[in-house]
Amino acid sequence: MPTPVEPCLIVIFGASGDLTARKLIPALYDLDGMGQLPDDLTIVGISRSQLSDEDFRARMREAVKKHSGGFDASRYEAFARRLHYHAADAAKPEDYAGIRECITRLGRERNLLRAQGMPNLLFYLSVSPNLYEPIIQAIGDAGLVGEGKRWCALDPKSLPWQRIIIEKPFGTDLETARSLNRALGRVFEEDATYRIDHYLGKELVQDILVMRLANAIFEPLWNRTHVHHVQITAAETLGVGSRAGTFYDGAGAVRDMIQSHLLQVLALVAMEPPSNYSADAIAREKIKLLGCSRIAQNEDEAWAWGALGRYGAGPDGPAYVDEEGVDPARRTETFGAIRVGFENWRWAGVPFFIRSGKRMAAKLTEVVVLFRAPPLDVFERLGAAPPAEPPNRLIINIAPSEGISLRVAGKVPGSGLKIETTKLDMDYVERFGGEHIDAYGPLILDAVRGDRTLFKHRDEVESGWKIVQPFLNSDRLRAGIETYKPGSWGPDHADDLMTPDGGRWHNPIVGEVR
Ligand code: BG6
Repeated sequence: MPTPVEPCLIVIFGASGDLTARKLIPALYDLDGMGQLPDDLTIVGISRSQLSDEDFRARMREAVKKHSGGFDASRYEAFARRLHYHAADAAKPEDYAGIRECITRLGRERNLLRAQGMPNLLFYLSVSPNLYEPIIQAIGDAGLVGEGKRWCALDPKSLPWQRIIIEKPFGTDLETARSLNRALGRVFEEDATYRIDHYLGKELVQDILVMRLANAIFEPLWNRTHVHHVQITAAETLGVGSRAGTFYDGAGAVRDMIQSHLLQVLALVAMEPPSNYSADAIAREKIKLLGCSRIAQNEDEAWAWGALGRYGAGPDGPAYVDEEGVDPARRTETFGAIRVGFENWRWAGVPFFIRSGKRMAAKLTEVVVLFRAPPLDVFERLGAAPPAEPPNRLIINIAPSEGISLRVAGKVPGSGLKIETTKLDMDYVERFGGEHIDAYGPLILDAVRGDRTLFKHRDEVESGWKIVQPFLNSDRLRAGIETYKPGSWGPDHADDLMTPDGGRWHNPIVGEVR
């Protein structure tokens, strides 16, 4: 039974920004339509623009029309009654008297006040990352967070809670990530901190653990004896476009996708089974795994285990270096690939390859587990050619065509013995129906419920940075960045990563599913 959703006040900082309009309010509207929000749950948007409640509701009406699962005028009118607005600069301590007054007023009007005269509060930082630390500190200095002693209070349930959701990037390197974690820790308990990663909200990412642990047939094979290597790919066909100058050129594919989303996917694939399906048990196993990764120690290892590329010009747009706002001298990568290994009994010697790029051949996010070939080819003497590749391959297709396939070898009907591989395929939409729910809504609801299972612990974030830092720091990789053809599978150097282990990237034929 999921924990019931308690009424609370969601305080969105950065309410006039893009994320609020594109994702947060439409997701909350959709949840409301599904009857998943408690009646009193209230939302207040805060940003510097001078807007009235009515102005804000009118703006959000347009956003909901564009980005929600389905607009309905009367449903929106009912939802809009939950929406309020307060103009303030959230990074300025002097604006917090007004913010506090607004919170208590709404708490009173909406019947949300609890002990200490405060409602349950969920802060959402939908602002530029350079404002995270000042805002967190200002929230703390304003005395809005009394969470610290709640868990051990005589009657914890009577006290209001305060939680915070923040978006990636969680720092731009290990040092800044630590600084952000410390800033958060000074104000919020770790279990009141919700580091959102929309990949963890994806159905097939959540299914990785279910598939591994709700079936008896995979886990016995899930180790160095049977797995040859694992590949994780997140490829996109679009270029960087208008985000190039404002964000991407300072980030690149390794920070934007690998450190954040794909190491989380990897952690779910490679972690030990948790003792139960709870946030703490899962986080403990992910932290343990990421903490024993084999980190590149020098330039030679960074070069042997990493590859960077940037897309050239093509029919769909200019070369990355010619996108507006890009400084070619920074040599920012739009493609990154890394090889990761783990020094533990289960995985010693098994390589995990991760790659992500823009303007690639297909929009595709998948995990490929390659199993070792059978120990003995008993058909050899009969003259049956073995399959060109190890016959067993499991593909978890996270997007766009959600599903799982397992490739197995079988006999081709007819006289003689001819062996070919074929796939056992499970299509999620066919099997479970196709209603698409954006990952944001369920994640916000989890935070309101106090369920951190799909959020990241600070140690996971820091371990992620430790893994990618040698690749980001490598002058040799940066100097050797290759230009790849748009519509391809990335630079040649990415193929070199695989060669020593005798594998090659799974580059599906465009249009073919799994
Ligand atoms: C975001 C990155 O976090 O994820 C984007 O900043 C990327 O650059 C996006 O395009 C990919 O998400 P999805 O869900 O389309 O795979």
